[in-house]
Amino acid sequence: MRYVRLGRTDLEVSVLALGCGGFGGVGSAADLIGRGDDEQAAFALMDAAREHGITLFDTANAYAGGRSEEWIGRWLASRSAREQVVLTTKVRNRVGADPADEGLSARHIREQVEASLRRLRTDVIDLYLAHEPDPAVPIEETLTAFDELIRAGKVRHAGLSNFSGAQVAEAGEVAARARVAAVVNLQSGYSLLDRTAAADAFDVCARLGIGFTAYSPLAGGWLSGKYRSGEAFPAGSRMTLRPQPYENWLNPPTFAGIQALGWAAAERGIPLTQLALAWVLTDPGVCAAIIGPRRPQHLADAVAALDVMLTQQEREAIAALVPGS
Ligand SMILES: NC(=O)c1ccc[n+]([C@@H]2O[C@H](COP(=O)([O-])OP(=O)(O)OC[C@H]3O[C@@H](n4cnc5c(N)ncnc54)[C@H](OP(=O)(O)O)[C@@H]3O)[C@@H](O)[C@H]2O)c1
Repeated sequence: MRYVRLGRTDLEVSVLALGCGGFGGVGSAADLIGRGDDEQAAFALMDAAREHGITLFDTANAYAGGRSEEWIGRWLASRSAREQVVLTTKVRNRVGADPADEGLSARHIREQVEASLRRLRTDVIDLYLAHEPDPAVPIEETLTAFDELIRAGKVRHAGLSNFSGAQVAEAGEVAARARVAAVVNLQSGYSLLDRTAAADAFDVCARLGIGFTAYSPLAGGWLSGKYRSGEAFPAGSRMTLRPQPYENWLNPPTFAGIQALGWAAAERGIPLTQLALAWVLTDPGVCAAIIGPRRPQHLADAVAALDVMLTQQEREAIAALVPGS
């Protein structure tokens, strides 16, 4: 495993992070609670991650209605592993039926951090993220609430997820003006099929010393090559469970591009998943990639991608094979 300092923090993290969004469900989708990996599979993944030296775990209060955090908490306790793991969790997505059960208001954040701490069975969250922007709440209120949590010792660092470059810059300015803790991390989707973050946010992250973590480096499984034009989606695959985020890739140029990537990987004698993950990991703008393995073998495959070194020229040639938004 390789380790890196997250932005300007004292947090040293593995460059592969274990995404726990599939524990007990599929991300924050309330209608898919119970459709993800069960607790036993989640424990096997966390055990395998630890054996591979992965120290960064990613979850959210809303993942599988809290089950993801709960199972991580149980695993940490049963393995006495809290000190070995850098825990990231998030707040913002809907967690209940009441209109106030979501968002980035100070009230909701104060309430939700307690619920996360309880489920995770810890007294401090290493990295606490705003899961998405909340247009109904001024960012100053959110950053001030995060700052209070840091001062209270409940959170070590605060960050943002799914914020645009302009919103990250605004958060930086507001934190400086309000004299509250600056955000240290931006977590957004980034892969060969979704390159928006590089053009939009990498410069501002570099300027502000914010570490960028890339989620869905395999584009939710699309960059495994398992989806083929004109064929049914494999049983149990992400596209059969939650196709909505990926529907703009259901077109001939994307299928053709993924096939070309598969040939480029075969020329190197590696699976497409390793080429795609290496493409993300070798981007100088990326601190860590948050992977979503379904079984321990997927983890071994991801770890092997660490040995695939791509130059900038090679990265550009690979990117040219496939359309990327
Ligand atoms: N902040 C946010 O808004 C946000 C959003 C999304 C994700 N995340 C975080 O990022 C994590 C990872 O996201 P992701 O699951 O979309 O990542 P991903 O690594 O792009 O996709 C994971 C999917 O790829 C397939 N897969 C993984 N390894 C494979 C391998 N070696 N061979 C073949 N197929 C493989 C599996 O698909 P099948 O399930 O189809 O088998 C798996 O579910 C989440 O768990 C979560 O922690 C955060």
